Amino acid sequence: MNIDELKSVAQTIVAMQKGVLAADESSPTIKKRFESINVESSEENRRRYREILFTAEGIERHIGGVILFDETLRQSTREGIPFPKLLSNRGIVPGIKVDKGTKALALFPDDKITEGLDGLADRLVEYRDLGAQFAKWRAVINIDDRSLPSMYAIRANAHQLARYAAMCQEAGLLPVVEPEVLMDGAHDIERCEAVTAQVLEAVFAELNAHRVAFEGILLKPNMVIPGKKCARQASVQEVAEATLRCLKRYVPAAVPGIVFLSGGQSDVDATDHLNAMNAMGPQPWEVSFSYGRALQAPVLAAWAGDESNVATAQKALLNRCHLNGLARDGKYARSMECAT
Ligand code: 13P
Repeated sequence: MNIDELKSVAQTIVAMQKGVLAADESSPTIKKRFESINVESSEENRRRYREILFTAEGIERHIGGVILFDETLRQSTREGIPFPKLLSNRGIVPGIKVDKGTKALALFPDDKITEGLDGLADRLVEYRDLGAQFAKWRAVINIDDRSLPSMYAIRANAHQLARYAAMCQEAGLLPVVEPEVLMDGAHDIERCEAVTAQVLEAVFAELNAHRVAFEGILLKPNMVIPGKKCARQASVQEVAEATLRCLKRYVPAAVPGIVFLSGGQSDVDATDHLNAMNAMGPQPWEVSFSYGRALQAPVLAAWAGDESNVATAQKALLNRCHLNGLARDGKYARSMECAT
């Protein structure tokens, strides 16, 4: 395990004005996304869609890493260039989602646990050989305004994240550690902050117990935000302040970067929140993005499965990448949305 190498991969991914494009939707998830634009989820359509994303001109200025799904890591452009090679050639670090999705936690039916540790060490070696330099594991924390998550679910998910991260570091892959407290529900921002704090505390205790070097990880957390159904929504400033307060208490400064998930926020909100946090900087770690929906929603809508829309779809991606690049510096303003 060479921590300096992992740290350098992390720093490349979260270099100035850069973040991560999460394009690692599992087969059921991409099927859902395609259904929303009436596109069949065939292997060729999935390949073509990802090719549109990865060949968009100019994205390398703002995208330092792309997370791929197993199938995508093995696919190629029309000209036969494997996607990991295409990305590396453009100076973008290829990564891979290695978890196998979530299930109800046994005897805790309202909590979730992530599967995929069995055989992971061997898969990591294969993924490295296919060109991946970093990995991602997503733990999902269900939340309500009273009893969820159980303390046991927090501990079990933190333990698994740490097992995964240790295996990655041993295999020479940078682990992106993703504990996601969901936005679903009616809980308020205070409840989200309290649960996010408990989760981060548990995750870093387990990472430490598993001898994971904090210098060789990236953290991919949720922002501290009220549930979608909460009657009292929070201002951009409130979200930024609560999120930074929580992270500063629980995330060691040795971690090179924090790359937020968008989690169902609108693309504009996700950019605005990121901008507000960077405007309050500098922070102990790079503060960046690893957005799936918040980068891809306008691309999917513009493409709609039609080849004649490819240029417009790629422009939509570049636009979001550019705006999030500005938000990395605290130089974004909502008024730029209509100007583009
Ligand atoms: P969202 O930004 O759509 O939440 O996706 C990020 C991700 O990778 C979820 O695991």
